[in-house]
Amino acid sequence: MATNIIDGKKVAGILRQQVREDVQEWVGRGNRHPKLQAILIGNDPASRTYVGAKTKACKEVGIESETATYPDTISVRELKDEIINFNRDDDIDGILLQLPLPGHLHPSQLIETIDHRKDVDGFHPMNVGRLAVGQPTFRSCTPAGILELFRYYSVMTKGKHAVVVGASNIVGSPMAIMLSRENDNGKATTTLCHKYTRNLTQHTIQADILVVAVGSPKLITGQMIKEGVVIIDVGINRVSDADSEKGYKLVGDCDFDSVCEKASLITPVPGGVGPMTVAMLMKNTLLAAKNSIYPKD
Ligand code: GUN
Repeated sequence: MATNIIDGKKVAGILRQQVREDVQEWVGRGNRHPKLQAILIGNDPASRTYVGAKTKACKEVGIESETATYPDTISVRELKDEIINFNRDDDIDGILLQLPLPGHLHPSQLIETIDHRKDVDGFHPMNVGRLAVGQPTFRSCTPAGILELFRYYSVMTKGKHAVVVGASNIVGSPMAIMLSRENDNGKATTTLCHKYTRNLTQHTIQADILVVAVGSPKLITGQMIKEGVVIIDVGINRVSDADSEKGYKLVGDCDFDSVCEKASLITPVPGGVGPMTVAMLMKNTLLAAKNSIYPKD
């Protein structure tokens, strides 16, 4: 089967341009520029890169941004106090706590400290709960970006069998909620696979739409999928590569060459889902600035 490659970079560029115009319009009406406050703990190189990409996108679309960096020795109490200060700061619209965190910091208790009205990552239980019951909410950026890709590439989800592999709070779990909800990009029969799933192939082989977000290179091979499947590969894995200047290259969770023999549409790594996550963060930050999800009165 001839596989079409999804150009996430292009679609994300279109989305960022839309946000840029919306920000201009918002500021043109006398409002201040939206502001994103990023929080970065420790020295994880991948996290630094991601936060760098997010602040660069902010600049491009006219969103102000600041990154607060803390050593990985920061205590829960100190970090909570910092977050509370950002919650109280009326000049900050969105707060982003870059994950993963060092072992002594538990993401859930810190995410819950973030004001849900500023939770532009869509990780706060209030926003996840609203997603689950179909209320307006900040949606987690990666799965929301995947639905935008479906829209752009006319991938219909209604009545399809969508299989999500990986049940993280960031991607897999909200993805499964979105795909199964009764709305325009949902209505799919949805299977959520995770580390306890027995015989993964038994599930993946049934997928019309397969979303893989595990962080395990070459987990999905051509033998595990059916002809014509749409594959969204969320994995971003660094594997050593002597030919590359950096000494590593980025690969997804799918064995790209073998799945391409059967897939009708696939996201590459890099250049697939990653840029969409950033674009959706821009969109959420503008929504926060406009109080669109949680109107003031
Ligand atoms: N780590 C990996 N993906 C994400 C994301 O979308 N948001 C945050 N805050 N951390 C992440």
